[in-house]
Amino acid sequence: MWYTIIFVVIVAILLKNIFTEVKTASVQSADTPEVVEEGKFTPKTLAKYNGKDDKRIFIAVKGRVFDVTAGAAFYGPGGPYENFSGRDASRGLAKNSFELDCLTPLDKPIDTLSDLTKEEVESLENWEEHFENKYRVVGVLENEQPDEKI
Ligand code: HEM
Repeated sequence: MWYTIIFVVIVAILLKNIFTEVKTASVQSADTPEVVEEGKFTPKTLAKYNGKDDKRIFIAVKGRVFDVTAGAAFYGPGGPYENFSGRDASRGLAKNSFELDCLTPLDKPIDTLSDLTKEEVESLENWEEHFENKYRVVGVLENEQPDEKI
């Protein structure tokens, strides 16, 4: 008899703990910014995800957009690779350079990367793998359509 009562009490406590955790988690997710569904970005619409205009940080690598917010120490304001945030980082990753001249101006078509050397292509592929293993893809980078231009 006592064993049954103790067993029921333990189960009740465990269930209460589980439900409290679920509730806390849902409150937290309500506070976080809206989730960006997999989507299409142009160089200009990607630009705001730079950790300043929007707290999230996205970067594009070979046409795919990664959410690198978890790496804010690298890409956030004041970080060593902040130039990449909100931008297509492909050329910089290929050439191992975070200099501004590796970034395509926002009003120019997406870099085709057609002039990269074999070594640079390999370097870019290695970085791509790094991002795939570490971050979530949130969309693709596409050129702005002529009718989207202001
Ligand atoms: C000045 C020489 C550099 C030093 C000392 C350095 C140092 C580092 C260190 C310590 C990490 C962290 C590695 C880890 O534990 O995950 C890192 C990551 C990284 N570095 Fe560098 N780095 C240098 C140059 C560069 C350059 C020129 C680039 C340009 C492409 C670059 C791009 C990156 C990227 C993309 C990451 C990955 C960050 C992430 O995981 O999101 N680094 N670097």
